[in-house]
Amino acid sequence: MQVKSLYVHFPFCRHLCNYCDFHKSVIDDQKLKDFHKQLANQIKSNNDFLKTQSFGMKELSTLYIGGGTPSLWGESGISFLLEKLESSGTKVSKDTEFTVELNPGAWKKEEVFSLVELGVNRFSVGVQSLNEQVLRKLDRIHSVDDVYKTLELLNSLDINYSVDFMLGLPAFEKRDLFKEVDEIANFNPSHISSYILTVNKNYKHYGNLPDEDFVANEYLAFVDYLKKYGIFQYEVSNFSKPGFESRHNLQYWKSNSVAALGPSATGFLVKSDSAVRYRWKVGEKSNEYSIENLDEKTLEFEKIYLAMRCARKLDLSKLLPRIEKLELEKVCNHWFLQGFCEGSDPCTVTLTSKGFLVLDSLFSDLFKFLKN
Ligand SMILES: C[S@@+](CC[C@H](N)C(=O)[O-])C[C@H]1O[C@@H](n2cnc3c(N)ncnc32)[C@H](O)[C@@H]1O
Ligand code: SF4
Repeated sequence: MQVKSLYVHFPFCRHLCNYCDFHKSVIDDQKLKDFHKQLANQIKSNNDFLKTQSFGMKELSTLYIGGGTPSLWGESGISFLLEKLESSGTKVSKDTEFTVELNPGAWKKEEVFSLVELGVNRFSVGVQSLNEQVLRKLDRIHSVDDVYKTLELLNSLDINYSVDFMLGLPAFEKRDLFKEVDEIANFNPSHISSYILTVNKNYKHYGNLPDEDFVANEYLAFVDYLKKYGIFQYEVSNFSKPGFESRHNLQYWKSNSVAALGPSATGFLVKSDSAVRYRWKVGEKSNEYSIENLDEKTLEFEKIYLAMRCARKLDLSKLLPRIEKLELEKVCNHWFLQGFCEGSDPCTVTLTSKGFLVLDSLFSDLFKFLKN
């Protein structure tokens, strides 16, 4: 079996935002050198591990470098990665969807040109907001002007890009959300990811987040407003023009195999009736990974849960053959009456944005039949 997708975690930023809980630290030369050493070791260990699971990784259909701030890695870092992959037998071609996350405050023009030369054909830009005060309160290193410059540059290169946007922010600043969306949409991005702020204990904005109703209304209004620009929801947090869905992220939601490299990165290898999840450790043990084996039943739950994240037709009677059709019809009918799904066939439904807001409870509605 072949793995066609790879995620690489670049764990450094120039400055740490006050809400972010991803694995990352402030970049320095020594850390970068150590990271390169780790990565070279991980590439070898990863291939050995894939072999033990009867997988190989010859040619990538998608490569996603996330972080952290991979735009700081630049040409030399990304060339290093590509060379190591190539010499280990993994090919990145011009058909590979090759995405790099880009922080509007951490790039140089020549570096962006070089990345495109290296084959990067998609950027994911961490905009978050177009309100100067909001950016300051989130401790972002970039200004609204940096966002304009970044998107102008990407447009001048005629390259595909996505914009990350944050919702559910504390009421520290009055936000004109629609004005921000208008401004972003005027740059014509093909894709938008919008994340509702979650803050762990001990982080600055913990205890200061807006209430559930506010967040739900903001989310629903946001989803609806994007339609005006021909940008449609295809997953809980993801929106695109038709045909511009993230091919890489779709692999996760379709429960396809995705390999991973870099500290804290998680890979998923799917077999016919089981799966294995592996996660690279951080710090000194970064050449080791933990493993979680998923049996047939657990894999079935995961597949359903991930499929439910997407705004596409779900034939629940096919996905859940173990559940009585009559029981499924009752569940779907209840969802339908609440506005959580659409669809005319009683068991073939498409979840709505309102449904995505209560996804966990919808999953529990099905889970109670699946437990035994
Ligand atoms: C890990 S970041 C990497 C992108 C890049 N480092 C940046 O921030 O510009 C990916 C996205 O996750 C989102 N994110 C990070 N921390 C979050 C949090 N606590 N709650 C919600 N979204 C978060 C942000 O929108 C960010 O753009
Ligand atoms: S730049 Fe991105 S990854 Fe780095 S701390 Fe901020 S949100 Fe997290």
